Amino acid sequence: MDKMDKIVILTGAGISAESGLGTFRDKGGIWTRYAVEDVATPEGYARNPALVHEFYNARRVQAAAAAPNAAHHALAELERAHAAQVVLVTQNVDDLHHRAGSRKVLQMHGALRGALCHLCGHRWPAPPEMTPETPCPACARPAARPDVVWFGEYPHYLDEIAAHLAEATVFAAIGTSGQVYPAAAYVEEARSAGAETVEMSLEPTAVSHLFDRCLTGPATRTVPSWVAALLA
Ligand code: APR
Repeated sequence: MDKMDKIVILTGAGISAESGLGTFRDKGGIWTRYAVEDVATPEGYARNPALVHEFYNARRVQAAAAAPNAAHHALAELERAHAAQVVLVTQNVDDLHHRAGSRKVLQMHGALRGALCHLCGHRWPAPPEMTPETPCPACARPAARPDVVWFGEYPHYLDEIAAHLAEATVFAAIGTSGQVYPAAAYVEEARSAGAETVEMSLEPTAVSHLFDRCLTGPATRTVPSWVAALLA
């Protein structure tokens, strides 16, 4: 790899599974216990904000109690040690990449630790528990919502991510089922940029056939060995 190399990594819920945080579409996943339209859409929030706050309060508390695992730490080590530029794009709203020491992290679906006022757009650090009555510190109205991206809303950093993918020499997708767009199409953008593509997942995914290599198994095993090979 020469110095112009760029490693773009996309992570999903599977990288946090071994930290004890649930995934969405695996057996017993979050979407088998909650209806997406009730807790992860603007319409659901408008209909029943208390249920939405309950859902994200529980996930915020779980994420705070979880610890980064060997896969998160390996990616932070890759960013520190590799000469190439390492860009970490995550669909996850937990902060385990940050707590493992990763610095260049683009949280395209927002963050549990953020609060957003749906009336004035003010953002502030979310308290552990929010309710529909939680006032916005800026406009004082009871309009707090989790600062996460719901279905039907625009993910963050789309232009920046596209620019990174256009320059990628390596693209890795870790712990994501490849069923939610635009992230599921990133492997195709990376391929058309000539990048070498690798997928790490517990089971084959909807997009495994688009990758040059698929490393099947738990992320705490596949990611450290992939990083060790890159740093060798
Ligand atoms: N190690 C590696 N991969 C794992 C592990 C593990 N220990 N456990 C599960 N996986 C894999 C599964 O095989 C699956 O491919 O992680 C993936 C989890 O897929 P999803 O549950 O669909 O999660 P994700 O792809 O991140 O969902 C994308 O959907 O609901 C929205 O906004 C939400 O960001 C989320 C998006």
